[in-house]
Order: sequence, then structure tokens, then C-alpha cells
Amino acid sequence: MSTHPVNLSDHESLARAALDAATWAYVQGGAADGLTLQANQAAWQQLPLYPRVLRPLAGGHTRLTLLGRELAHPLIVAPMAHQRALHPQGEAATALAAAAQGAGFVLSTQSNVPMENIAQLVQQDAGRGPLWFQLYWQPSRDTTLSLIHRAEAAGFDALVLSVDAPVAGVRDAERRHGFKLPAGVSAVHLPPTTAPAEWAPGQSRLFDQLLLSAPDWDDIAWLREQTRLPLLLKGITHPEDARQAMALGANGVVLSNHGGRTLDTVPATAQLLPAVARAVAGRVPLIVDGGIRRGTDVLKALALGASAVMVGRPVLHGLAHNGALGVAQVLRQLRDELEVAMALCGCRTLGDASPALLTNA
Ligand code: LAC
Repeated sequence: MSTHPVNLSDHESLARAALDAATWAYVQGGAADGLTLQANQAAWQQLPLYPRVLRPLAGGHTRLTLLGRELAHPLIVAPMAHQRALHPQGEAATALAAAAQGAGFVLSTQSNVPMENIAQLVQQDAGRGPLWFQLYWQPSRDTTLSLIHRAEAAGFDALVLSVDAPVAGVRDAERRHGFKLPAGVSAVHLPPTTAPAEWAPGQSRLFDQLLLSAPDWDDIAWLREQTRLPLLLKGITHPEDARQAMALGANGVVLSNHGGRTLDTVPATAQLLPAVARAVAGRVPLIVDGGIRRGTDVLKALALGASAVMVGRPVLHGLAHNGALGVAQVLRQLRDELEVAMALCGCRTLGDASPALLTNA
């Protein structure tokens, strides 16, 4: 393969060559048998497009308004942990590349670079996309609040609470390779992990320890009152959960199966999208992620009712083999492909992407 990547698959090959087997297993792996992981990409691929011709396309563009902000295009970098395990500049490189490309950027709670540094790097860039902080619920409300207050003070535009991973999935590939963070790389927002306390025979370490501090819907109601920042819930897959999120004041829904990394055999997000889009009914932004690798995938997501998409692993691939430049190329290539897909389908704006693109009935 050429060392000049022309698409996201090329970036994936370059990343694989650049990383050791354990880090690759961490980045690329899915939960258990990887069925959801595979299904995500396959589902976008298997949706046929039914283009329309001879429609006026002059003056077309990929712009949209999201949570009151005009964006150049609908690509957002998904929150992803431990980016310094892939490149010495880690999240700083990713955030800079996203800003330079006008893409949104979501910083993980499990970042290796402090959120204040990230905000300082990109905040003043007039062309940047939204800068959001991904929140993992912490064992105490006080610790959770202190992260929120830091994100507010640093100038993040919104909070994205991950609700689908109260516990990590069954990560066979990671365990097989014994993935560990490199020396000097840590989750800088979190206290060092301590050895688990003893638990009595007959107790479950999961249910009687770890999950004692998992959030529930009451915590969402509480959280909504703690901050003026928009709050999005990420990891919603069921229409009823989307309705409940909105009823509790969530300002956005991220339909996600965590890139197939948590519960295996959850359907592909492309399959889940129509029902969740019906439940959300345009009342709040609906963002989808999982398996998006082509501009046509982005267009299909919008046609099925998404307002924008998050892109995960491809961004890490760019980062792993070429730092900020690699991330910028990934985002630029995906955006360029989206423009081509729009033009060839007869869509002048994102608003022209409707379910009609996916049927000739
Ligand atoms: C993961 C956790 C960090 O997917 O969200 O690896």
C-alpha cells in the first residue's frame, strides 16, 4: 500500500504498521466476539443509495447549526481515551487537527492531557467546531461536580455523559495482549487507580462494588441541574431511553454502541437509527457513531435522521501514524467524500438528505 493514504482504510493500515500488537488490540478491539464492531461498518455499507440526477447543486455546502453554533460540516471527533498511548502529543494533536478542519472535538474524561491545556490550544480559533467534554460518572457526586466545574471554567461548550459503560465490556483482545498504558501516560483527570477492596464470599465484585457508584436516571435529573452547559447523553440505543433523556432535559442524544466495545451483539447503529430518530423527532440534536468510514456513510446517517456524526477509530489511526497531520487528513478526506456523495446524490445541502435517498419506492 502506498504511504500516501487516500482514504480511511489506508490510514488504518498505516496505523496498524505503526503500533505494537497490544496497542493495536486496545484501539481496534471490540467486546467479546466483535459482532457489533463488524456489524457497525457492514450496516452502512449494505444500505444502498438511490441518487437523483440533474438537480441544481450550485452554492451547495455541508454547513449545519448544532446547539446554536454554525458548523462547517457534520463531523465530530468521538471521545476516546488515552491518546498519548498512540502519539506523544496525544489529545493535543487530535484537538488541534480537529480545530484546523472545523470538526467538533470531544475530550475524554480519560484524557492524557489536561482539559485546560486542550481548551487553551483551540478555544480562540474562530473556525473550530464545538469543543465538548465527555464525562464518565465518578464514584461521588463531588468528584463528578469538580470535573464539570473544571470543564465550565476551561470553556468547554457542552458535556457528553457516557451512559453505556458502567463497566468495561468483555475485552478479549486487550486481555490476550495484556495491554498496559506506556510509562508516563495516565488519565490525568482521575485519581490513580487503587487495588480493589476485599469483598465477601458470595458477593459480586461487579454488583456489590463497581456498580454501587454507577449513575441512574435520578442522577441524570440531578446532573441536569448542576450546570448551564448543554448536556448530551451518549450511548443511547433504545427509543424509550432517548425519550427519557429528553424528558429529563438532555440537550442532545448520541446514538452509540461504543464502537462495539461494550456489549456485543447490540445491533449496528445504522439499524438502530430510524427508531431513535422517530423518538427524538428533531426536538434535540441526534448524533450517531459507529463504523463510519466513508462520505457515503455520513450521508446515509443524515438521511436516516442524524444531525451529525462522530468518528472514532479512524481519527486514532491518523494520530497513530502521523500525529496531527494524520488526524487532519482523515477528517479532510471524510469531508471531501461527503461533498462528493452529496453532489452525486443530488443533495445541495445536508437538509436534502432524507429517507428518500435510501429507497426508490
Ligand atoms: C473504551 C473506554 C475507555 O472504550 O471508553 O476503551
